[in-house]
Amino acid sequence: MKKKGNNSGKILGVIGLGYVGLPLSLEFVRSGYKTIGFDIDEKKIKVLSSGNTYIKHIGENRVKEMIETGFFEPTSNFSRINEVDAISICVPTPLDAHRMPDLSYVIDSARMVSKNMKKGTLVILESTTYPGTTREVLLPILEDGDRKLDKDFFLAFSPEREDPGNKKYNTKNIPKVVGGISQNSTKIAVELYKTIFDAVVEVSSSEVAEATKLLENTYRSINIALVNELKVILDRMGINIWEVIEAAKTKPFGYTAFYPGSGLGGHCIPIDPFYLSWKARELGLNTRFIELAGEINTSMPEYVVEKTIFALSEHKKALRGSNILVIGVAYKKDIDDARESPGIRIMELLIERGANTSYYDPYIPEIKGFRQTDLVMKSVDLTDELLSGQDAVIISTAHSLIDYQKIYKNSSLIIDTRNALWGIKSDKITLA
Ligand SMILES: NC(=O)c1ccc[n+]([C@@H]2O[C@H](COP(=O)([O-])OP(=O)(O)OC[C@H]3O[C@@H](n4cnc5c(N)ncnc54)[C@H](O)[C@@H]3O)[C@@H](O)[C@H]2O)c1
Repeated sequence: MKKKGNNSGKILGVIGLGYVGLPLSLEFVRSGYKTIGFDIDEKKIKVLSSGNTYIKHIGENRVKEMIETGFFEPTSNFSRINEVDAISICVPTPLDAHRMPDLSYVIDSARMVSKNMKKGTLVILESTTYPGTTREVLLPILEDGDRKLDKDFFLAFSPEREDPGNKKYNTKNIPKVVGGISQNSTKIAVELYKTIFDAVVEVSSSEVAEATKLLENTYRSINIALVNELKVILDRMGINIWEVIEAAKTKPFGYTAFYPGSGLGGHCIPIDPFYLSWKARELGLNTRFIELAGEINTSMPEYVVEKTIFALSEHKKALRGSNILVIGVAYKKDIDDARESPGIRIMELLIERGANTSYYDPYIPEIKGFRQTDLVMKSVDLTDELLSGQDAVIISTAHSLIDYQKIYKNSSLIIDTRNALWGIKSDKITLA
């Protein structure tokens, strides 16, 4: 990466160097801004400082180049927030044990910013959250003492639309929606982001920007639930949903293809819509579509296990005591993120029902210390012997680099939730 240098001499900050914050930092540096990346995780700071990476699709070379420019400084020293002119907050926004929004990471970050920021700092929240968070939660923290919006600091929301693993769309060329707490804050944030992203979409308020992200992810969750429900219904009619989708998507208008699978995963689609539900409840409103989609999508791992039980019984076998291998526990193909992964839920269900369960995922070598599960397991080697010793193989996530022909050749029964064995007609294969 060439050291580009930026005429404005502005220094930018990013809080939270994860799947969103790290590529965002990279884009800031590419645009010529000196960038300070803040994270509470010392291990991540160490890895980045030595030019390495912990996110597969952000290759080591990219981090190394970024460090070598001298324009990127990862740190856990939050007092350095006083060096930045603008800071983007990219920390997690999960649900708590009662499925309520957990804004603790956002609040902690806002407090750090408030404590350390210099006069005139632009603060942009990027974490997905319910409409009103920037104004109701961040603004009071930043207005600490007699500090005033648009005089002492500026505040906006800009949703992240990162799609890890997407070869066509990346941080830079995905249009960036920006809405401020005030006109002035919007203007300042739009001006900055125009120097970084290919296209900036200005909206009238932070609430519109917050709601935009929730509309996008709710739309995905509902459409995935729709095809998952249709999959179950069409299967009972003896119709292959994958073939139906291929035919439907030839319509040049009014239809966007969504695909069924073993359930929903990741940090966004299974979680974000419930931020909206929670806020709607405050107004006495129900979000029926969201609840229904959540119900259908979370029932998919159960459905896959039921299909497995049924397919095994056709082979005169019981699930209890059978050897079952789950292929792919990342939440989607070609990435190394297993958060909220349905593959892990499938394994929990199999283990509960007494199956000898193992998994293979080249991107998730180990399951350990994950928030959603107590499971501790290591990925096995996908050898011919291993496959032939299985009573069933469940394809939960179909990474591109996996040899499906090898799986087909060596397995006696395959439960395929992703149509990875498309085109092969065999009694060994059950679509689920
Ligand atoms: N992952 C995606 O594809 C994606 C896409 C769009 C939006 N989002 C949203 O972006 C936000 C961040 O998601 P992510 O996937 O990057 O999460 P992540 O877990 O990968 O990264 C978050 C980082 O924040 C750090 N962190 C936590 N608390 C901190 C604090 N107080 N101060 C500094 N650092 C702190 C963590 O150590 C971690 O490195 C979430 O709101 C998410 O919904 C994620």
